[in-house]
Amino acid sequence: MRADPKDLHIREFYQLMIGAITPRPIAWVSTVSPKGIPNLAPFSFFNGVTSNPPTVVFSPVNNRHGRKKDTVLNIEATKQFVVNVVSFDAAEKMNATSTEFDYEVSEFDECGLTAIPSEKVKPPRVKEARVHMECELDRIINIGDGPLAANLVLGRIVLMHVDDGVLGADGAVDPAKLDTIGRMGGEYYCRTTERFTLPRPAPRKN
Ligand SMILES: Cc1cc2nc3c(=O)[nH]c(=O)nc-3n(C[C@H](O)[C@H](O)[C@H](O)COP(=O)(O)O)c2cc1C
Repeated sequence: MRADPKDLHIREFYQLMIGAITPRPIAWVSTVSPKGIPNLAPFSFFNGVTSNPPTVVFSPVNNRHGRKKDTVLNIEATKQFVVNVVSFDAAEKMNATSTEFDYEVSEFDECGLTAIPSEKVKPPRVKEARVHMECELDRIINIGDGPLAANLVLGRIVLMHVDDGVLGADGAVDPAKLDTIGRMGGEYYCRTTERFTLPRPAPRKN
C-alpha cells in the first residue's frame, strides 16, 4: 500500500503512523494549573533528545475541536512538568488518566494515584512510577493548525529520581526491574520482557 497524506483524513493518517512507529515509550506527564490543581496525562509521541543538556520531547496535539490540552495550557503558564515512567503494574491507571476530565479536575484524585512532591519544580511526581524526571520548559514548537496540530514540548531535565529497587548490581537501570511498557497501534501495548543484546560495531578505520 502507498499512503499520500493528501488522500487521507488526518485521523486515518494518524492511525497509520501509530501502527508503524512502534513501540513508543510513554511519558506520563504531571503539571499544575496556575491555581495549583495537579494534572496528569500520558503521551507516547515522546522521546529523549540529548543528555547535553538533558532534554526530552513530547507532543500533545490539539483535541478534535482544535483546542490545546490541559497539559499544554499548564506548561505554557508554569513552564514546568514532570515525566513519570510507566511500568507494567501502572498500565491501567496510566490509561485511565487519558480520560478527558474537566480542566479543574485532578487525574490524581479521579484515578486513585498518589502525588508526591517534586524537589525543583511545582508539579508533583507520581508515586506509583519508579522513575521521575523533573523538567523546566525549554520551548514549545507549534506544528500545523487546528485539530491534531502539535504543540511539541521540549524540556530540560533538572532532576531525575530513580527508585533504587530498579537498579542492577552495576548501578544501571535493570530493564527487568523497571518493566516499562510501550504503546503500539490501535489499543495494543507491548511489554519489555523479551530482550536481546547486540554488541556495538567497533569503530572503522578509514
Ligand atoms: C498510551 C497513550 C498515549 C497517548 N499519547 C498521546 C500523544 O502522544 N499526544 C497526545 O496529544 N495525546 C496522547 N494521548 C491522549 C492524551 O493522554 C489525552 O488526550 C489526555 O486526555 C490529555 O490530557 P490533558 O488534557 O489533561 O492534557 C495518549 C493516550 C494514551 C492512553
